[in-house]
Amino acid sequence: MEFLAPLAETPLARALIASSTLYLLVNAAHILGISVLFGAILALDLRILGLARNLPLAVMAPYLSRLAGAGVLIAIATGLCLFSVKPVEYAQNPAFLAKIGFVGLGILNAALVHFSQGWRAILADSEPRSVMRLSAWFSITIWIAAVVAGRWIGFL
Ligand code: HEM
Repeated sequence: MEFLAPLAETPLARALIASSTLYLLVNAAHILGISVLFGAILALDLRILGLARNLPLAVMAPYLSRLAGAGVLIAIATGLCLFSVKPVEYAQNPAFLAKIGFVGLGILNAALVHFSQGWRAILADSEPRSVMRLSAWFSITIWIAAVVAGRWIGFL
């Protein structure tokens, strides 16, 4: 993983290493991005699983999925900043690798849902089919795993 070492020499990484205030602000932004992502995904997945049936899914789904999209973009951008400080070390950290795997699965699941017949049916105001409920359970499990793996990074 030594090919990643030059990342730590970039002006951004040097600024994060030199300023603990800047580092904590980026770390806080990472947690905020994760919170927006997880909050929006959980609200949407629980509605797909049948909670709060009085709330119109055809209205909630586009709004919450865009919010989750914004959260994942903030988490990825700030995550790359945090990564740049110790790239070789993180790339050898099993918790970090596990987290990136879960994040990839979470994004893949969301993309497959968005291009599915089931999503179009939801937008047309029909109740979710069993395959959508299955992917909602998968989504909740995967994003919880990503958060746990993310927190675990600092313990290894
Ligand atoms: C998009 C979904 C993501 C989730 C849910 C997530 C989750 C987390 C969590 C829960 C933490 C611990 C925060 C703390 O306690 O300070 C964390 C830290 C971190 N994340 Fe992420 N993350 C995501 C994306 C990324 C990406 C894409 C990268 C880099 C490519 C990344 C790199 C890091 C790094 C380097 C840390 C600091 C670890 C440490 O030294 O403690 N994250 N992440």
